[in-house]
Order: sequence, then structure tokens, then C-alpha cells
Amino acid sequence: MKKAFITGVTGQDGSYLAELLLSKGYEVHSILRRSSVFTSARIDHLMRHPHFFTYHGDLTDSSNLHTLLAKIQPHEVYNLGAQSHVAVSFEVPEYTAEVDAVGTIRLLNAIKDAKIRTRFYQASTSELYGGIPATAPQSEKTPFHPKSPYGAAKLYAYWATVNYREAYGLYACNGILFNHESPRRGETFVTKKITKAAARIKQGRQPDLTLGNLNAQRDWGYAKEYVEAMWLMLQQETPTDYVVATGKVFSVRQFVEMAFEEAGLQIEWRGSGADEIGVNKRTGEILVKIDPKYYRPAEVDFLCGDPSLISKNLGWSARTNLRQLVKIMVQYDLHHDSYGAEG
Ligand code: NAP
Ligand code: GDD
Repeated sequence: MKKAFITGVTGQDGSYLAELLLSKGYEVHSILRRSSVFTSARIDHLMRHPHFFTYHGDLTDSSNLHTLLAKIQPHEVYNLGAQSHVAVSFEVPEYTAEVDAVGTIRLLNAIKDAKIRTRFYQASTSELYGGIPATAPQSEKTPFHPKSPYGAAKLYAYWATVNYREAYGLYACNGILFNHESPRRGETFVTKKITKAAARIKQGRQPDLTLGNLNAQRDWGYAKEYVEAMWLMLQQETPTDYVVATGKVFSVRQFVEMAFEEAGLQIEWRGSGADEIGVNKRTGEILVKIDPKYYRPAEVDFLCGDPSLISKNLGWSARTNLRQLVKIMVQYDLHHDSYGAEG
């Protein structure tokens, strides 16, 4: 039986990946951070699975990582743990680097020092391309230009992964994943914030929604499909870094329109800049407002990935388009209050 070790299992991707690996017959080992409240909502349905194991652990604790890896001797390691919020990284830059950058090298070094024969997946990100002009979709060959402490920390982790591959012959690769969403998406990321608000406004449980930059453009895919790409990357003869994306781009404004439409509300935009509002086309009621507190010190305006390499080499491509994804998320939010196995 193959053994996998996952950091970040309580997050959106970690929970889908654990499900995928268990369905493939893996034994799944994972770390949970100690917290004063329960953080396992996304994996509660897996807790009784005979092949699913959790341990207290943290990417800031080298000895903990070393001990666990030496004991478990996993065949595959998926490093998904991170302070993953770009806006928050401007407020806690040092902590973000500690977890996202140094945490990755701690894990790589634990694998090297404990002499574990394993394959390593690093959760790299399209944020690496942050400031690249919007001339063409971004591929594995596009130069990097991170625009946040999060992006800078992930850049270090990207190169640390490449370095351990080149220096020590470790089977290590980066998945450069563009934004991917689901009903399990954290509630402070823009898509989930919008779909949850659209559902609650429709149900009369919330008056309106306040957002930041409506003009940012993203390449949004479905997280459940993106964890399949992570697994595929570790099943090849040679480790290779891949962009994982849909190749299609939409603005936050378009996402708002689609989500409210799915909830049965049509949005009409009035005004501009921080004074722009989105009103209910039928009643004129204000449903969307702007608050500049959600603007970032530096914004990533445009992200669109070129998934041709992964499509050609691994046969992976996104199956769910944005309208279908919005439907999945809004319908979930209309019928559920929290994360769960159904999401
Ligand atoms: P997420 O929902 O925010 O989950 C992050 C996970 O990391 C959680 O399990 C969290 O644990 C854990 N974590 C945070 N700090 C940690 C620490 N010090 N030690 C150990 N674990 C820690 O993120 P996600 O959307 O699933 O993304 C997974 C990974 O892919 C992240 O590395 C993210 O940066 C990267 N990524 C995401 C996207 C995307 O669009 N989703 C795109 C590209 C790359 P708690 O539950 O205890 O907070
Ligand atoms: N979070 C948030 N909240 N974002 C907003 C808001 C708001 O109220 N209003 C507008 N936005 C804009 C942000 O300025 C950004 O341009 C865009 O919506 C997307 O923001 P997020 O959903 O927070 O995601 P992100 O693109 O910054 O980062 C996510 O994707 C990266 C991959 O590109 C995260 O999952 C990162 O961990 C991941 O690496």
C-alpha cells in the first residue's frame, strides 16, 4: 500500500487530495495545527477512515517534520500547507515567509536528512507571475515577478524545490496552479465570499456584499480537478514543473454577475471607482458596495495560464467551466452553512 504525507490537509486542496488518494487505495498521513477551535470541518468525514491518519504538526517545526517523516516513510509528500492569503501576507510578511518559504525547505531538508526515498510535490502558484504584463497566457517559460510577500515566499519555495531536484536528485516538482475554487474555498477568498453572499442575500440573511477591486482578472478552475493534476505529476518517470490552469480569464465583476444570477438576482452597475455600486436590476436596492480597505498595496491585475504542456504530457485538462463552477458553489451555499463531505 502506498503511503502519502500531506501538509495543509485541513484546507480546500488538502481535503480533496486526501479523498482522491484514499479512493486510490493510499494510506494518507497528515498534519494538523493545534488550535483553540476545531479546524477539521473539511476532513471530518474522513476521520474514521481506516487508512487516514492525523498528527499534530506545523511547518514552522523542523524536528516535528523530521520525526514524522522518518516514522511514516511516505512514498509521496504533498506540501500544501501555507499562509495562503495574498492580502493577509502584506500584514504578516515575516510569518508568511516563515511558513511558505522556510517551511518548504524544512520539509525538503527533513526528507534529505532522514534519507527518505519519496516524491515531493510543491504547491506553487500563478502569483509567481504577478506583475507580468497581460500580453499572453503564462506558461512554464514565463519569467516570474511576484507582487506580494506571499508571492515572494512562494518564489523561494519554488526554487528550493528545483534546487533539491538538481542538487540531490530528489523527485521534486512544482505545480504552478492558477486560482482554483470550490464549495470548500476559504470564506475570505473572493469567489467564496461572493457565492456565500449571493446565497445569503437571496435568502434575506445578509443585506449586501462589500468588495475591493472588481477589475482584477483571474483564471478560475475547479479545485477537485486540480488535485488530480498534483497526483499525476508525482506518477511520471521524470519530475517536471507544470502550469495547471483553464486558459480562460474572467474579472471579479463578471464573477459577481454570474453568482448573483445563479441565485436569481440580476446586478446592474452604477458609478465608478470606490463609489461604484451593484444594484438589484428589478428593485434598485444596493446589493454590492466597494470599500477601499480591500484594495491591496500592490495588485495582480491579470492571471491567465497556458495549460498546453500538462495537457500534452499528462493528458490533464480542466473539465468544469466557470459558469458550471459558479453554479456548483452557489447551489452549495444556498443549501449549506458550513463545509462538509458534500462540497
Ligand atoms: P487553504 O485552504 O488556505 O489551506 C491552507 C492549509 O495550510 C490549511 O490546512 C492550513 O491549516 C495549513 N497551514 C497554514 N499554516 C500552516 C503551518 N504553519 N503549518 C502547517 N500547515 C499550515 O489553501 P488551499 O486553497 O487549499 O491551497 C493549498 C496550497 O496551494 C497552499 O499552499 C496555497 O498557497 C497553494 N495554492 C493555492 C491556490 C488556490 O487557488 N487555491 C493556487 C495556487 C497555489 P489550518 O486549517 O490550521 O489553517
Ligand atoms: N479576497 C478578496 N476579498 N479579494 C478581493 C476582494 C475581496 O473582498 N475584492 C476584490 N478582490 C480581488 C483581489 O484584489 C484579487 O485581485 C482577486 O479578487 C482574487 O483575490 P483572492 O480570491 O483573495 O485570490 P488571489 O488571486 O489573491 O490568491 C489566490 O490565488 C492564488 C493563485 O493565483 C490564493 O488562493 C493564493 O493562495 C493562490 O496562490
